[in-house]
Amino acid sequence: MTKPVDLLKFNQAWAESVKAEDAGYFDRLSEQQTPEYLWIGCSDSRIAANQIVGMEPGSIFVHRNIANVVVHTDLNCLSVIQYAVEVLKVKHIVVVGHYGCGGVQAALGEANNGLIDNWLEHIRDVYRQHKTAVDSATSEKERANRLCELNVIAQVGHVADTTIVRNAWRDGQDLTLHGWIYSLEDGIVRDLQVTRDATSLT
Ligand code: CO
Repeated sequence: MTKPVDLLKFNQAWAESVKAEDAGYFDRLSEQQTPEYLWIGCSDSRIAANQIVGMEPGSIFVHRNIANVVVHTDLNCLSVIQYAVEVLKVKHIVVVGHYGCGGVQAALGEANNGLIDNWLEHIRDVYRQHKTAVDSATSEKERANRLCELNVIAQVGHVADTTIVRNAWRDGQDLTLHGWIYSLEDGIVRDLQVTRDATSLT
């Protein structure tokens, strides 16, 4: 089992190996960040945003919470979106869910999970809207996976409905939203084909 002190040692070894390979790495990284992507994903420890899409640190601005939910009263998430859109001027916002998401599975279950059930209620809203599609799945796993996909699609809609994104589109800013889903079973990220841009402004 690792101890916190081990992580600090790993960090020193990592920093030294990076410098040995690329002497200017930290000088470049310590300058202003200019990411073109905002990633809104699940907190799940198995999903490292940069790593799974092969991008270097500095290229993706990240917000993560349980089950990648975008709620219009969540100041944390809205602040991240505002900073990403208005200051960093990211070109893409990607909501990335994953199959086998524990949050989504818990939302479908009957267990009493305490405080987090209030958060999961947002996913139950998605389930209630798509009950027929979810319940027509042939297994519990498939049922949960369908809701994982529908949850991503719903959250992309919530991003599109924020005043931040709507104002950016009205101002002609180049900004596209995407809904993706990651499979822990094969490591592949799939596009759910719900891409939105300024043309979806109503
Ligand atoms: Co998850």
